[in-house]
Amino acid sequence: MPDRTPCVGGNWKMNTRAADAGALAKSVADGAASVPGVEVILFPPAIYLQEVAGTLSGSSVALGGQDASEQSDGAWTGQISAGMLRDVGCTHLLVGHSERRHGLGEQDALLNAKLHAGLEAGLDVMLCIGETLQERQADRTADVVVEQVQADLANVPMEALSSLTIAYEPVWAIGTGLTASPEDAQAVHALVRQTVGSLYDGTSASAMRILYGGSVKPGNAADLFAQADIDGGLIGGASLDAEQFQAIVEAAGQSCCRS
Ligand code: PGA
Repeated sequence: MPDRTPCVGGNWKMNTRAADAGALAKSVADGAASVPGVEVILFPPAIYLQEVAGTLSGSSVALGGQDASEQSDGAWTGQISAGMLRDVGCTHLLVGHSERRHGLGEQDALLNAKLHAGLEAGLDVMLCIGETLQERQADRTADVVVEQVQADLANVPMEALSSLTIAYEPVWAIGTGLTASPEDAQAVHALVRQTVGSLYDGTSASAMRILYGGSVKPGNAADLFAQADIDGGLIGGASLDAEQFQAIVEAAGQSCCRS
């Protein structure tokens, strides 16, 4: 049986203000304490990271940045480096979220550079991949996710894989209320794991956590997480509601990583 700790990430995107960010983080930390077998990570807006870091201090909940520059320092107006994220208490970094790939035009070469910047700064990286609706309708899902995994992991050494999690998020399911069926999601997760296996080896592949994202809610989380290759979720909308998020964390504790 694979020994993978279930993981649930809360991606707050460009939501909250300082007061509610602190309150939400506090509720998440209180809830997570009752589900010790699940790794919980919050990704608040960058400007509230320090505030949330203070709230999470002493709790089991980890903190991550939603994005970082591929550069480490210097004349890059408006950018935030992975080292700065680390400096304010982050241990994790999201790379390749579809809103950055498709909304902001970030390409695989840039995402690969960001992934390396995160690892070099000592952050664990959660790499998001997934096909658009158009790609799915053209029956290109498998090609797209394999290409993304190959390109985004370029030159990542095997030793770094323990600092990596992959989140499969079909773009058409993000924020839409549509979810991949557990069976469809499982098929893509298995393909992603197989791809990691062919790039590295079977041991690394079976140790890699692969999360599902895209309209995960309390009502569908358990069925998704019960799939053999789904090790938790990356949650957007439902992560802004402490009760819903807690229900998803509990579903991960009960259903994930059982074979
Ligand atoms: P959603 O977002 O849960 O609102 O669909 C998921 C994500 O963007 O990570």
